[in-house]
Amino acid sequence: MKQMITFLMLWVITASLQAQDLKPIQLNKPNLKRGSTVMQALNDRKSGNEFSDRMISDQDLSDLMWAANGINRPETGKRTAASAMNKQEVALYTFTNEGVHVYDAKGHRLTPVVAGDHRKLFGERGMAPLIILMVTDLSKFDNQAAASYKEEWGAIDTGIVSQNIALFCAANGISTRPRAFMNREGIIRLLKLNEWQRPMLNHAVGFAK
Ligand SMILES: Cc1cc2nc3c(=O)[nH]c(=O)nc-3n(C[C@H](O)[C@H](O)[C@H](O)COP(=O)(O)O)c2cc1C
Repeated sequence: MKQMITFLMLWVITASLQAQDLKPIQLNKPNLKRGSTVMQALNDRKSGNEFSDRMISDQDLSDLMWAANGINRPETGKRTAASAMNKQEVALYTFTNEGVHVYDAKGHRLTPVVAGDHRKLFGERGMAPLIILMVTDLSKFDNQAAASYKEEWGAIDTGIVSQNIALFCAANGISTRPRAFMNREGIIRLLKLNEWQRPMLNHAVGFAK
């Protein structure tokens, strides 16, 4: 019994130390000069199947997050992705073998959410070094008149971010696949999402095997 309690205490201490260990990631300035043409990217876009273990570079990650849903007009705070009523309700969570971060567009950085490798929540098939999860926060559509459209707009806005990711990847030799399949209950529990925050779609990101 004593051993069991010691083991449990050690486990709790290790887990909380791990959470503290997960550092914020300040992303690089986006490189606006890279990538193929839009037409070439459209021609190359496809969903990847198998991913190698090689993580994309720091610059790739910075540019990918910005392309996905970064701020492209600092004077208004508006984004690379359009959103219904400019509610900007799609949050991006990155899952790697180190932990989960959430994208802070204003600071162009990744803020720690939870330490540890939680990529299995997206299934073993199509495991990738990086998984980007899109979560819409329907509570941002606070306007009464918009109530019946909330879910629709959340889904449409997610699709726009998804296509930004797909085109950035296609233009830069990176492989990706959008997936609706995931362990939603597990994700909601891990990220402590409320009833309005809906995990919609995830993108496996990496290099083709
Ligand atoms: C909303 C949506 C959900 C998807 N969900 C999954 C999924 O759960 N698992 C999967 O392997 N692919 C998923 N896909 C990828 C599609 O299977 C893929 O886009 C389709 O086969 C067409 O192939 P392409 O993207 O190469 O043109 C999804 C795509 C979309 C747009």
